[in-house]
Amino acid sequence: MKIKTKAALLLFVWLIAILLPIIFVIYHFYARFEKEEEMENLQAAANEIVQNIHPSDLLNKNNSSLVLSNYLSNHTMIRVLDKTSTVRNQVSDRFELMDIPPKYSEIKEFYFDTYLQQKILIVRTPIRNGTEIIGTLEVISEPIELEQSLYHLFIIIGYVAFGAILISISGSFLLSRLLFLPLSRMIKIMKEIETSVEFRKLPLNRKSKDELYELSDTFNHMMERIESSVQKQRQFISDASHEFKTSLTIIEGYTSLLQRWGLENIDLQREAIDAVHKESIRMRQVTYQMLELAELEQEAKLLISGFDLVSLCKETIQLLQPLSSKKIFLYPSVQPIQIEADRFQIKQVLLIILDNALKYANQSINIQLENLDPHLCIHIIDDGKGIPTEELPFVFERFYRVDRSRNRQTGGSGLGLAIAKSIVTLHNGNIQINSEQNKGTVVNISLPMRKPFNFNES
Ligand SMILES: Nc1ncnc2c1ncn2[C@@H]1O[C@H](COP(=O)(O)OP(=O)(O)O)[C@@H](O)[C@H]1O
Ligand SMILES: [Mg+2]
Repeated sequence: MKIKTKAALLLFVWLIAILLPIIFVIYHFYARFEKEEEMENLQAAANEIVQNIHPSDLLNKNNSSLVLSNYLSNHTMIRVLDKTSTVRNQVSDRFELMDIPPKYSEIKEFYFDTYLQQKILIVRTPIRNGTEIIGTLEVISEPIELEQSLYHLFIIIGYVAFGAILISISGSFLLSRLLFLPLSRMIKIMKEIETSVEFRKLPLNRKSKDELYELSDTFNHMMERIESSVQKQRQFISDASHEFKTSLTIIEGYTSLLQRWGLENIDLQREAIDAVHKESIRMRQVTYQMLELAELEQEAKLLISGFDLVSLCKETIQLLQPLSSKKIFLYPSVQPIQIEADRFQIKQVLLIILDNALKYANQSINIQLENLDPHLCIHIIDDGKGIPTEELPFVFERFYRVDRSRNRQTGGSGLGLAIAKSIVTLHNGNIQINSEQNKGTVVNISLPMRKPFNFNES
């Protein structure tokens, strides 16, 4: 069942649950008051007779019939009984009432009864002669007018209730339609979006910033994120395939050369094996870096611990220095600088930046550490070729390399800086490059020294 129908039904049941008891209570009390009034009138008539007519006259047939007729109203019977319940006197405009069996009573009685399926009111009053009770005055009436007015009331109330039910049915359906119309519209558009290939957004009604506005807005943000993530993935796949395609083309080229002439030509064999080996290493490196980047983007978990950045720098320098003739200097290198971060990942960043610097530096590289509590800055400065200003904005993009042909020789994949940026960003830090062509490059990394509370740790 649709939520719209549910809401309408609920509203309808709620309205009826309020309305019907109200109608019932009104009818019930009205009928009660009317009946009481009718009974009081009859009692008053009986009292009047007993007070105004002498008891002995009442029981005397000759005297009272005529007098009693004065007290007779419509659909009523008045009769006088003696102690043996014998009717001494009776007057009525309804002969059926005279067949009601008489009953002597020494106390006052008044009640409703039914006689031959007709409602009747009975009032009995003892007739006293001094202290002695000598008979009973019975006044019996058919409350025809009362019945009629109650019947009319019942009909009116019936119509009102029926009308109320109709109004509440249509009203509740109309109201729920009105309330859920924007939602239905939204669902329609969402269904269209779901089946279409492009990423579309919901139109926002800025006038009413209600829950539906919030829902649409959230949906749009979600769409934006999905779109950008899908685009990133597409880009990544196309870049990665391009990367592998180049290596595979080289491998394929050399192996087909070998197939044709390689068996006789020792030089060609050496060259081919060399190239295939180099490309395999490259592909392995690229695969490893791609996996690392994917992991950083998906899991994004850090193993935060406190460590000394100075010793980490020294450790990294010791690892790289033997591979190059260019000198790496660290300043300051004596006092420890404590930082809370993922030690392994920060070492990765240092390796990536220093690897670049060693590749492009002419003679030396300087690492400068700066304690700007609560931040810590690492500047890695080289005196190399530099990066053209127009290329600077792109160097952090995946697979981006400034000089593609030069970089194939130096063995880069263009993933290093993307990985470094991911790691620094995960640490809530910042990485940025300044460079001047043929003068050198400065990579500035800023990291918070202490772990913030909303850190995503494993
Ligand atoms: N210190 C530097 N000096 C000059 N160029 C640099 C330096 N660091 C990075 N680059 C340029 O930025 C590009 C991207 O670097 P990186 O992401 O590490 O990829 P690669 O795998 O090519 O090293 C490099 O290809 C290089 O052209
Ligand atoms: Mg690199």
